[in-house]
Amino acid sequence: MTREEALDSVKDNVENANLVKHMLATESIMETLARRLGEDEDEWGLTGLLHDIDVELTAGDMNSHSKLGADLVKEMGVSEAVTHAILCHNEAHGIPLETKLDKALFCADPLTGLITAAALVRPDKKLAGVEAKSVGKRFREKGFAAGASREQIASCSELGLELDKFIELGLKAMKGIAKELGL
Ligand SMILES: [Fe+2]
Repeated sequence: MTREEALDSVKDNVENANLVKHMLATESIMETLARRLGEDEDEWGLTGLLHDIDVELTAGDMNSHSKLGADLVKEMGVSEAVTHAILCHNEAHGIPLETKLDKALFCADPLTGLITAAALVRPDKKLAGVEAKSVGKRFREKGFAAGASREQIASCSELGLELDKFIELGLKAMKGIAKELGL
């Protein structure tokens, strides 16, 4: 499946533009992570792009979220590795993270929310002026973007990445597609 086909499928299944942007942001971080770690950029990017494809179809039902998504992407013909990463990114299923790809999606997913929130509190609401240091500060403010699990973001250590480096990498990735993100 091509990247374009994947994006079309995401848009067919997800109406909310902010959710589509969340998946684009996750894609950008996953690609950048793959580049840093010497992994397959296309495969990791695709995983990020598709990971919440069922988010509206499952409408907040955490018992089916990501199970349906994994079924959908499997039907689309993605690899077993991509399917597994998508399946286990929802902790509710209690499926252990096994591969680097599983672990990367797990920590990249909430980082997008923290970085987006850090941009949106600025007067210009843009990513351009956001510094990694300020995202790090926001990370330590428990009440800020509370939905972005700090524990999950910090699990970047499982990939051998320090938190500061991970934030820097994620911010750079998202700045690279700021226009698409509307930030
Ligand atoms: Fe997500």
